[in-house]
Amino acid sequence: MQKLIKWIDARLPIIDAYNKHLGQYYAPKNFNIWYFFGSLAMLVLVNQLVTGIWLTMSYNPSAEGAFASVEYIMRDVEWGWLLRYLHSTGASAFFVVVYLHMFRGLMYGSYQKPRELIWIFGMLIYLVLMAEAFMGYLLPWGQMSYWGAQVIVNLFGAIPVIGEDLSLWIRGDYLISGITLNRFFALHVIALPIVLLGLVVLHILALHEVGSNNPDGIDIKKNKDENGIPKDGIPFHPYYTVHDLLGVGVFLFIFCVVVFFFPEMGGLFLEKPNFEPANALKTPEHIAPVWYFTPFYAMLRAVTVDLFGLPAKFWGVVVMGAAIAILFVLPWLDRSPVRSIRYKGLPSKIALAVFAISFVILGYLGIMPATAGRTALAQLLTVLYFLYFILMPFYTRMETTKPVPERVTG
Ligand code: HEM
Repeated sequence: MQKLIKWIDARLPIIDAYNKHLGQYYAPKNFNIWYFFGSLAMLVLVNQLVTGIWLTMSYNPSAEGAFASVEYIMRDVEWGWLLRYLHSTGASAFFVVVYLHMFRGLMYGSYQKPRELIWIFGMLIYLVLMAEAFMGYLLPWGQMSYWGAQVIVNLFGAIPVIGEDLSLWIRGDYLISGITLNRFFALHVIALPIVLLGLVVLHILALHEVGSNNPDGIDIKKNKDENGIPKDGIPFHPYYTVHDLLGVGVFLFIFCVVVFFFPEMGGLFLEKPNFEPANALKTPEHIAPVWYFTPFYAMLRAVTVDLFGLPAKFWGVVVMGAAIAILFVLPWLDRSPVRSIRYKGLPSKIALAVFAISFVILGYLGIMPATAGRTALAQLLTVLYFLYFILMPFYTRMETTKPVPERVTG
């Protein structure tokens, strides 16, 4: 065995790679539960890939056969129901995990220098993940698959001059059809997963280049012992492999409860109209995307005025796009001398809390049918969402911060 490892290592530096990323990767010793979500995101990614490959074996990507093939998977394919529920619940779990992972980044200032690239790769992952989920949702060819895609692709039509041609190009037809289904299938099962995997590799490589942040936001590399090892660092393996296994255990317990007992989650994870086959002649009464898109959907619907000769729909798309785009420049908006929320001032704490609460309520409003009152609330919350970012350069610079300790506090 030793000989084989030596033989391989002379040709491919596996020992080097093991040491760099596991055995001698020194991670801060004060990680808390918020640090579970990176490894959990990787676990869910693997779940999606494996169950997705098996679903593809029995799925039929055509307008005529898609819906029936999903029914066939659910009823006749051995363990097919489990494969499908693992995949559909996995999609929601992915967003739960990624949203918590991102919130951890906001709390501890993990996007700040020198981790800007980790954050940007993360944001690109988030974008691709949204595209992946959107295209996957068309595949069962149910009523909500169809009309959801119709609404979202039509949004591109609001862009002046090129809009109509652009949405025609995306659909490949004048309305969502089997042609659209075919291309979404190709993108969902091949193109986007490859991009996603590549981005995750870059995300981790960028992380391991500069090292992990921690709940205190302290740079552990500044405090090394005589062997050059950070005093507040512990080797990733075995310490954090075992630590992460605890997170995996708890996660799998909750995940299995949902898969086996609440796979539809009352219409949140699998929406009710999607149990009816797609019908181009019958619009569902209420069209709403799956929960993980609804904060942005609420922002889209919150814009109700035509401006500068352009329709409200166009400005809604702009606001929705800006809500995501602004996250990319976050590392340059935060001017605080400290990273972690633990040492920032009260204004930062209030801003983060207001931002998070606004995002969650917007998510709720996006699920519900619009009323005048709900639209007004969505407008207010959209403004609060943006104020978190727009005012950040000011409140992070002006507030008084607490002194950051020399060593991590646990
Ligand atoms: C497929 C999705 C993703 C996977 C598999 C993934 C994986 C990971 C892993 C394994 C870590 C190290 C462990 C940890 O700190 O939790 C990490 C760190 C990090 N991730 Fe992600 N990530 C994903 C998405 C994202 C997204 C969407 C963002 C933000 C936009 C993001 C931002 C970060 C940041 C800033 C760190 C450094 C955290 C720190 O050191 O405090 N990640 N990611």
